[in-house]
Amino acid sequence: MIPELSSPSVCMRDPQRVEEIIKTMQKAGPSTIQVISDFDMTLTRFAYNGKRCPTSHNILDNSKLISEECKAQLKDLLNTYYPIEIDSKRTAEEKLPLMVEWWTKAHTLLVQQRIRKDLLQDVVKESDAMLREGYQLFFDHLQEHSIPLLIFSAGLGDVLEEVIRQAGVFHPNVKVFSNYMDFDETGVLKAFKGELIHIYNKKEGALLNTGHFQELKSRHNVLLLGDSLGDLTMADGVHSMENILKIGFLNDKVEERKTSYLNAYDIVLVKDETMEVPNALLLHLT
Ligand code: TMP
Ligand code: MG
Repeated sequence: MIPELSSPSVCMRDPQRVEEIIKTMQKAGPSTIQVISDFDMTLTRFAYNGKRCPTSHNILDNSKLISEECKAQLKDLLNTYYPIEIDSKRTAEEKLPLMVEWWTKAHTLLVQQRIRKDLLQDVVKESDAMLREGYQLFFDHLQEHSIPLLIFSAGLGDVLEEVIRQAGVFHPNVKVFSNYMDFDETGVLKAFKGELIHIYNKKEGALLNTGHFQELKSRHNVLLLGDSLGDLTMADGVHSMENILKIGFLNDKVEERKTSYLNAYDIVLVKDETMEVPNALLLHLT
């Protein structure tokens, strides 16, 4: 049906079911669809030329706004907690308190750095931030067909917004739920706003934002994109959902995690740095 689904990076537990969901969604038409996507390592690349690409946190962590001492501390946190994030031997329940610990420690360090709002633009410009190949078509196509895109990220909202703004794809159909910085009257970071979003509480975040999902209540069909098993609850706030197609990027520790990804996501994209499959689906659905 869609040639891109036969590409070597695509794995599916039940291809027939995927085909049925796509057929149903296509019949229902673009006015019934909404897209919900994670940001880091889903809309952005995991690696480029063998080198890891930065998350929205890493963009700031590696920047001139952070002291060398703090950089080392943030790196220690990453080296401690990232292996836990992707450990297939631990359950989400075991990981949850440790992830809260990571986010809390990292944000506390960032606040101590007296980060200036007006320098965030430069930081993103000077970073190695990289959206996945084909991102332009993805964002532009959704905008052309008036399909709402919710970017739901446990990363840094101010940074990720700047990434998509500089890439020229922060269209009016894009809405972001993320961790936003709170600046004082002189434009210096003093805290983070609202409830913390980490990788295992996207469900609560979704249920808090009732207004957004209320606006989209006629869109019962969801395309969900993520790279973590925590991303699967991003659509929990959607009103009377009829169909959901879950696309998961499996970037790291492929062998250990493949079975759990195949059980959780309808389409698993293994070490695929492009938006080819999501784009092919969107073209087919619109
Ligand atoms: P996401 O929800 O947009 O994918 O963002 C979460 C990612 O951010 C997750 O994969 C871990 C990463 N992260 C960092 O890289 N550095 C940090 O300090 C923290 C707290 C998270
Ligand atoms: Mg992610």
